[in-house]
Amino acid sequence: GAGKSTLVRCINLLERPTAGAVRVNGAELTGLSQKELRKVRQSIGMIFQGFNLLFQRTALDNVCFPLELAGMSRSEARQKARPFLKLVGLEDKESAYPVQLSGGQ
Ligand SMILES: Nc1ncnc2c1ncn2[C@@H]1O[C@H](COP(=O)(O)OP(=O)(O)OP(=O)(O)O)[C@@H](O)[C@H]1O
Ligand SMILES: [Mg+2]
Repeated sequence: GAGKSTLVRCINLLERPTAGAVRVNGAELTGLSQKELRKVRQSIGMIFQGFNLLFQRTALDNVCFPLELAGMSRSEARQKARPFLKLVGLEDKESAYPVQLSGGQ
């Protein structure tokens, strides 16, 4: 309860700080329009404390979901997502649904 999640939510402005500015790699996020902010957020990764996985989608398709929302084709999204599953040792779980994964996975 020290404020870790709140700090991370402030960094991507899911939570707007009551005072001060947020700068990431020199860009002042607190000065951006909502549209600009959405764009910049695409390069700021965050893992939520509650995983917020979609239970009807496989591990691979969960990773693909935000890419599809951003307008990427399904096949391109899958190509992009696979190396990330591999990076975290889940390449053999790409077809598994969230209920088939452990908490850590
Ligand atoms: N800078 C702050 N000033 C005042 N209250 C804060 C601040 N940051 C966080 N809080 C409050 O403190 C509480 C705990 O914050 P938060 O959930 O961010 O902590 P956490 O470190 O992520 O906790 P956990 O270890 O349980 O995940 C929340 O009620 C939050 O609103
Ligand atoms: Mg937390």
